[in-house]
Amino acid sequence: MAVPLMDVAAEYRSIAHEIDDHLSKFLDSGKYTLGPYVERFEEEFAEYLGVEYCVGVSSGTDALLLSLRALGVGEGDEVITTPFTFVASADVIVRLGARPVFVDVEPGTLNVNADAIKNTINPKTAAILPVHLYGMPCDLAKLREIASETGVPVVEDAAQAAGSRYAGRFVGTFGEAGCFSFFPTKNLGAYGDGGAIVTDNAELAEEVRALRVHGAKRKNYPGVIGYKARLDAMQAAVLSVKLRYLNDWVLRKRDIVNAYRERLTGVLGVTLLEEPEGREPAYHQFTARVERRDELMEHLQSRDIGCAVYYPIPLHVTEAFGFLGHKPGDFPEAETAAAEVLSLPLFSQMTDGQLDSVCSTVEGFYRG
Ligand SMILES: Cc1ncc(COP(=O)(O)O)c(C=O)c1O
Repeated sequence: MAVPLMDVAAEYRSIAHEIDDHLSKFLDSGKYTLGPYVERFEEEFAEYLGVEYCVGVSSGTDALLLSLRALGVGEGDEVITTPFTFVASADVIVRLGARPVFVDVEPGTLNVNADAIKNTINPKTAAILPVHLYGMPCDLAKLREIASETGVPVVEDAAQAAGSRYAGRFVGTFGEAGCFSFFPTKNLGAYGDGGAIVTDNAELAEEVRALRVHGAKRKNYPGVIGYKARLDAMQAAVLSVKLRYLNDWVLRKRDIVNAYRERLTGVLGVTLLEEPEGREPAYHQFTARVERRDELMEHLQSRDIGCAVYYPIPLHVTEAFGFLGHKPGDFPEAETAAAEVLSLPLFSQMTDGQLDSVCSTVEGFYRG
């Protein structure tokens, strides 16, 4: 049975009437930039997360860029992050003239090792940027402790983790700012690009609100050089509808992951990632470590089963970050993970039959 890695169109079809109705009202309103649809979604997302402010921006990348900039990150500063993430988590640091300082990941979750962060903090450290990879929350208790002991702000990269909770509370609400992506395949995906910054800090919210419109708190009176980085109003209209389904989709995907875990536990050649106590991931990906990865990928693809590697090369050994002067071996856990991880199909409309087909194919590969 063919199984795609993700199926964003199936998700759309499951709520097509509501989306179409709402978009038709949006089109009729003529309010196509910022305005009521963006404001409404910002209020709804802030309420959903239990946070004071939400500022809609053009992407998850811009959410990170504007948050760091508003916190004053710039030339000569350092920002601590993980090398095992999507490039945007770290390229925004470089774009602000600061230096990414990588810390290796924990082998169990592949999230940044919070214990190791403490030893890396120095007077140049302007922020800590943990990434909730695949939707799995980082060790937020430890990160909060480090932030309060050192005064260094945490900017959470929650791009992959809308709906994830740590100790019962949504991720993105622990740091000074939480950054979300609404890229179509994300847990809460728009039909184009989008992102949001959430915070309880009124001043920070005001700064990023200005930065997204050319640095102007008052129209046509720019106070600083900013960006054009607004959340598109049509995407906000889509997101207002989809937010109502987020919890259901998160639960369905968690059930699928639990079923994967049951089926694949004990399959020789497959090692599952950990789910530490107190963390309730809203899974963006179902990812495991696998032996003979390239062969397994070929085997799956030849049977029309989607799979992908997130991420095949840790950032410290990419060409773009070569200027940092790292070499292979500097972050061994991230490098081993990059050589072993494989993401299997996961989407909320995935059927039990599709799940069975993926598991049987993986089992068959290692048995055969
Ligand atoms: C961990 C992480 N950070 C940041 C981003 C950037 O988000 P966007 O694609 O919306 O700019 C992504 C998106 O793929 C991501 O996965």
